[in-house]
Amino acid sequence: MDAISVIRAKRDRAELTDDQIDWIIDAYTRGEVAHEQMSSLAMAILLNGMNRKEIARWTAAMINSGERMDFSSLPRPTADKHSTGGVGDKITLPLAPLVAACGAAVPQLSGRGLGHTGGTLDKLEAIPGWRADLTNDEMLSILRDVGSVICAAGAGLAPADKKLYALRDVTGTVESIPLIASSIMSKKIAEGTGSLVLDVKVGSGAFMKNLDDARELAATMVELGTDHGVRTTALLTNMATPLGLTAGNALEVRESVEVLAGGGPADVVELTLALAREMLTAAGLPDVDPAKALADGSAMDHWRRMIQAQGGDPDAPLPVAREQHVVNAASTGVLTTLDAYAVGLAAWRLGAGRARKEDPVQAGAGVELHAKPGDPVRAGEPLLTLHTDTPEKFASAIEALDGGVLIAPPGTDFTPDPIVLDR
Ligand code: URA
Repeated sequence: MDAISVIRAKRDRAELTDDQIDWIIDAYTRGEVAHEQMSSLAMAILLNGMNRKEIARWTAAMINSGERMDFSSLPRPTADKHSTGGVGDKITLPLAPLVAACGAAVPQLSGRGLGHTGGTLDKLEAIPGWRADLTNDEMLSILRDVGSVICAAGAGLAPADKKLYALRDVTGTVESIPLIASSIMSKKIAEGTGSLVLDVKVGSGAFMKNLDDARELAATMVELGTDHGVRTTALLTNMATPLGLTAGNALEVRESVEVLAGGGPADVVELTLALAREMLTAAGLPDVDPAKALADGSAMDHWRRMIQAQGGDPDAPLPVAREQHVVNAASTGVLTTLDAYAVGLAAWRLGAGRARKEDPVQAGAGVELHAKPGDPVRAGEPLLTLHTDTPEKFASAIEALDGGVLIAPPGTDFTPDPIVLDR
């Protein structure tokens, strides 16, 4: 077998055989296939696609490139959630301790932000002392004692995906449904969760810009999970505008704690509860009401224990950026658009995200929203506050917002789209 024949086959729209897929994933993981060859194959897949049989085999080969975790010794059913990524998407932070407070175990392996979308680990690292890297034994012990853990995936889990995702990121080959579905599901299946809820984002701030593509991605991932014995469901949710009122690491932690304290923005609370209900149903606990665990403080109690178990101080003040700049509304009327991509790009340019994997992020940087689509706004009143330690970045963040804010005349009848678009 050789890489060139596999690349040529996909270039010429042939179906890859099981042997070709097994060989290329294994040889690439071992360093026998060069990055430029894998990059060429990834582009051929992006352009010519893979059918369901190829995707299933590709996913299995990525799972088999590393270890599989096993949570079967836990006394509770396991439930996990994966979001395909968005702007202001802090939902994992309140959701994991909430679902643990309701009786399931939540092994949440999360990632860092890249580009305009934030990463859960970057957000939690804004909490003084908190650490993302745990051994498998530490992870299991926190799951047993607290019920939820949010941490980085160990190097042994789907190593083929680690290499391939980093390569796709710099070769314009991320936005391929077969490659996204196999990347996400290989990690989730290898992680060993019993059930999985997928939050597939749709809109300007998401990989999938329209409902049809999001539906195809969701259906592909649900089929992969189900075939591997993981009870998998998916919600399609709105990412046309940022979730909640903050995009940025410490800013989003603060908002998540507000949700755990029984407050927080309505859209964040709604999506957290919708995903919690899906996870509890998939884990065989359909009669537990997650709203009660938010109201009675038990979700907050689990959050505090989860943060402490990973070295964090839940009472420590969160970092605040050195400089702020307020963007005022340009006219009076009804806010109809606050574009998720524009806000995500602004937060990224302010220092909340990174351009390369190795770059540091600023804990306090980001964007605070003072209005959401559908709200009335007045000319000259604050619409957004930009936060950064590096004020020379304000100009490029403001440029990113250009065209992303639309205000209709006063009295315009405007109803924003719902958060949950489909199941
Ligand atoms: N997240 C992943 O883990 N992989 C992708 O390909 C895209 C998003």
